[in-house]
Amino acid sequence: MNIKNVVVIGSGTMGSGIAAHLCNANIPVTLLDLKTEISEKARDRIYKSKPPLLIDNSRIDNIKVGNIHDNFDVVKKADWIVEAVVERIDIKHQIYDKIFKVRKDGAIVSSNTSSIPIKVLSQNLNSTQKKDFCITHFFNPVRYMGLLEIVKNENTDLDKINSLKKFCEIELGKGAIICNDTPGFLGNRIGVYAMQVAMTEAIKMKLSIEEADAVFGRPMGIPKTGVFGLYDLIGIDLMADVLKSFVKELPKNDEFQVVAKELPLITKLIENGYTGRKGKGGFYRMRKENDKKLFEAINLENGNYFPTKKIELGIETMNLSQLIDRKDKYGEYAWSIISKIIKYASSLVPGITDKFNDIDEAMRLGFNWSIGPFEMLKSIGVKNFFDRIDNFEGNKFLEILSKNKDENFYGERQLYTSIETLGKIKPKAIKIDKNNSADIYRFKDFNIVEFTTKACALDYDSMDALKNATDKPLIIINESMQFSAGVNLTYTMNFADKGDFKSIENFIKYFQDTCKHLKYSKYPVISAPSGLVLGGGEEVAIQSNFIVSHTNIVMGLVETLVGLVPAGGGCKEVLWRWTQTEEAKKDPDFAPMTVFNIIGYAKTATSPIDAEPLKFLRPEDKKIMNRNSLLEEAKKIIEKNRDFKPPNPCTFNLSGKPLKEKMIKVLEKLYNEKIILDHGIKVGTELATVLSGGDTNINKILSEDDLYKLELDSFMRLIQTKETQLRIKHTLKTGKPLIN
Ligand code: NAI
Repeated sequence: MNIKNVVVIGSGTMGSGIAAHLCNANIPVTLLDLKTEISEKARDRIYKSKPPLLIDNSRIDNIKVGNIHDNFDVVKKADWIVEAVVERIDIKHQIYDKIFKVRKDGAIVSSNTSSIPIKVLSQNLNSTQKKDFCITHFFNPVRYMGLLEIVKNENTDLDKINSLKKFCEIELGKGAIICNDTPGFLGNRIGVYAMQVAMTEAIKMKLSIEEADAVFGRPMGIPKTGVFGLYDLIGIDLMADVLKSFVKELPKNDEFQVVAKELPLITKLIENGYTGRKGKGGFYRMRKENDKKLFEAINLENGNYFPTKKIELGIETMNLSQLIDRKDKYGEYAWSIISKIIKYASSLVPGITDKFNDIDEAMRLGFNWSIGPFEMLKSIGVKNFFDRIDNFEGNKFLEILSKNKDENFYGERQLYTSIETLGKIKPKAIKIDKNNSADIYRFKDFNIVEFTTKACALDYDSMDALKNATDKPLIIINESMQFSAGVNLTYTMNFADKGDFKSIENFIKYFQDTCKHLKYSKYPVISAPSGLVLGGGEEVAIQSNFIVSHTNIVMGLVETLVGLVPAGGGCKEVLWRWTQTEEAKKDPDFAPMTVFNIIGYAKTATSPIDAEPLKFLRPEDKKIMNRNSLLEEAKKIIEKNRDFKPPNPCTFNLSGKPLKEKMIKVLEKLYNEKIILDHGIKVGTELATVLSGGDTNINKILSEDDLYKLELDSFMRLIQTKETQLRIKHTLKTGKPLIN
């Protein structure tokens, strides 16, 4: 089966997301709706979407649009027709009637439904048609969510399903998991159950919503939105509809029914327009009082809003055992939800899938959990789990495990894919070292460094791991979402607060030394980023010898946003890349002026296509749709570079003072236009000092070390100012930079 042409019917949230993603994969796609105006508007939404649904907005016209009355002929040529119309069975049936009358023989027809069983969807189809019909359940936003559930039943042609899976995996880059036709499939069945358990247990135990979200969040390997934050994000009204559908579809004795009843508070919130972030607010809301924004949280007992309280659990990254061992209400709450999730998920095997590890992977790809229920069980330890758990009668999976107490019950990971992923390799590799911020693995003849801190923020230990891992070819890659959000600012501020600037200087110097070491070490160093590749993360990536980049990245040198300049070699490396251009050969100030703009404005790229014109990525760097393939691609680079030679050191001829004055003129203009304020001038001037080469002239040759030194000096002057410290603290507190 060769999919060369796709038609998507229904151009709402999901249809437009699916069409955009097909466009990302360079697959010709037509988006149809009731009226062409609707699909045109959808295309407009795609173009303006944030975060962008398209990898390259200039390709928007590759998405053709039309309506189902005048343009239905396109279906005749399609190899795959995706139905993504409203969740109404009568409308879906009408569409299938129309499609199957004209589709070419063998073309696949799939529905994006989240709740209607195949049996019902396909009830009017004949047996040949049923063979080619399945559910392809994408998650929103389609470009960013890794999971695609391909749902089949006994009538579906398995060969066809497998080739569709392959297409979706390779071309669309999805983690495509085949599952049975059961309500909510894998992701939503467990994910929504987990949310309901977290919510109902919080109410039962009288926890505040901030407390519940602090536990059912990072410490459990779950995104920090927690449960109530996620409810607000999805939409409280949408969640209510999802629950109604589960209540209707699931057997009366299913454990889900116990936690699925709509709470009076939720009914009231929806009635009053508190449907979450898209409405007036939800469990959390932002309120303006005297021009000040107040972030408030609802009290679950009386429905009133109060200013939010930050809950400090003292657990920054996932640690289930530490969490459930706590002798306080948080420990009790954590155990109560974790044990219920494990019990429920295991009770569904083999009904919803015979591969329990598919459930874990669905949670990872569809809900961004770090580990799924069965890995939670593994992490707590089988004996420990059974010592604590009470009744699990009728749960075949747990009954067997309780007898054999096999701590190694888990076996291999990521069985749904044949790609040799980082997740698959880690258990087979030797962990040769580990510190608080990174793990080093040896696999065959290469090393892997994986950052392990929150958002993979970098500190002294992260650098230490990198430096110690260059005795073999090195791949820097993480299983978690981000490559690195940059230098750990909390770590840096801890020194600043004590006035210990020497330690900061030592750290930045070590950071520079490490990056230089990566660039010139004997064996190739390959960074394989996805997600955030910011600040120090970007400096590590661009000073590696090769990059294999996922198509979903946010890449940039954003230090100026916190009142700093890149000082791990970022200014130097991007500058060097720009000095290699034709324009730079004609005008010696071209490269530094361009980089002054890029770094000064903290420009970021949201895809490799955007990153190349900024020279954060080079044309030869690999761009990969499937995150799972990053490691395999990086390995291919090692293979191809058996006779690797480190690059020649680079040198710079920069104009010095006259160039700095040119840059300061730019700053003055921005200042007069009130685009930047006093501290902006200061930061910009430091950046100008670095990029102009400091005290130099165009005939003087500067080495990389000279540039590192300029970066370090500017960084140290800025970090000691109150204004920069204020900006860093603001960013740490709010997650957002202080504008101006
Ligand atoms: P939506 O309400 O945003 O869009 C539905 C679109 O279908 C509208 O543009 C509407 O004009 C169009 N439509 C209605 N009748 C039509 C017809 N006869 N012919 C052509 N177009 C027609 O809905 P959304 O959220 O995109 O959902 C679509 C499907 O995807 C549903 O089955 C839903 O259950 C499923 N789904 C939704 C998810 C979400 O997060 N929104 C996630 C996963 C699945």
